[in-house]
Amino acid sequence: MAEALKRSIESLPGVGPAIAEKLRESGYSTIESIAVTTAAELHDAAEIGEVQAKKIIAAAREIAKIGEFVTADKILERRKKIGIITTSSEKLDELLGGGIETQAVTEVFGEFGSGKTQLAHQLCVNVQLPSERKGLDGRAVYVDTENTFRPERIRDMAVALELDPIKTLQNILYVRSYNTDQQVLIAEKAEEMIEKENIRLMIIDSVTSHFRAEFIGRSVLANRQAKLNRHLMTLHRMADLRDIAIFVTNQVHARPDMFFGDPTRPIGGHILAHSATTRVYLRKSKGGRRIARIYDSPNLPEAEAVFIITEGGIKD
Ligand SMILES: Nc1ncnc2c1ncn2[C@@H]1O[C@H](COP(=O)(O)OP(=O)(O)OP(=O)(O)O)[C@@H](O)[C@H]1O
Ligand SMILES: [Mg+2]
Repeated sequence: MAEALKRSIESLPGVGPAIAEKLRESGYSTIESIAVTTAAELHDAAEIGEVQAKKIIAAAREIAKIGEFVTADKILERRKKIGIITTSSEKLDELLGGGIETQAVTEVFGEFGSGKTQLAHQLCVNVQLPSERKGLDGRAVYVDTENTFRPERIRDMAVALELDPIKTLQNILYVRSYNTDQQVLIAEKAEEMIEKENIRLMIIDSVTSHFRAEFIGRSVLANRQAKLNRHLMTLHRMADLRDIAIFVTNQVHARPDMFFGDPTRPIGGHILAHSATTRVYLRKSKGGRRIARIYDSPNLPEAEAVFIITEGGIKD
């Protein structure tokens, strides 16, 4: 599998630079993403004939070894290696089963100002902590789509944890992304440096904003969904195979007019439902408190935790 990851989509038969570019633009940045698509979708994405599309998919499946079975003890062995990053709130850590996990994509969703970006900043600091302090001795990648990354906040959080602020900042690799194409490519590029740079956490803040801005209207909703799904699939694969934590944010609108049921609704529907491993819903409460709730996790109960945001970062 590791060998397959090193291969670019250009290694597929009939995929030259021009077709590769079109594929990447549509979110097919990896062999795996092509292996699980249909000939019709590939035809639409890169304007290639269905026969050729089928050949490309068959070759991708061969390389990606999709459908290779492993025994469950191997899965257990892998899961034992899962690393955990503290959120700096004991209550929130408890809710998350210890903290933010590697080999998983964690999505935090909530309305503006609910603390998604603050939590992302905190994790970039905490991933650098040694294991005794519930960190991973690792570095972070921060993909900023909204220009809301603030190094001053990192500095304050580092000081609060008695870490060297300059060193802490040096361990965060920051990149700005201006559109969905860039976002897809950045994820792919980040994968190449995970081992070399000792990356244990990747933030995408926010994972959905460009998708919403670029795909407006009902007619393109399916395209947006397809491209976003492929992007998320890349993230899931990276988290799994590279043993890193991936933390993505997603803004949703509060609906105070709704009295019953889910008070929020992601803009344009639940685009991330069933894709993220753990979904955390954040909401503002009285006295600056924040309430976190877990949504449809495979192994965590639905419960709530309360935390606050201070000058020095997240606290109970
Ligand atoms: N230095 C600080 N001290 C205390 N609280 C702070 C500080 N900086 C930010 N906050 C709190 O964090 C809130 C902003 O949260 P954050 O930026 O994480 O929201 P968000 O969920 O990312 O929103 P959006 O959807 O708009 O991106 C502020 O309203 C404030 O309550
Ligand atoms: Mg934000």
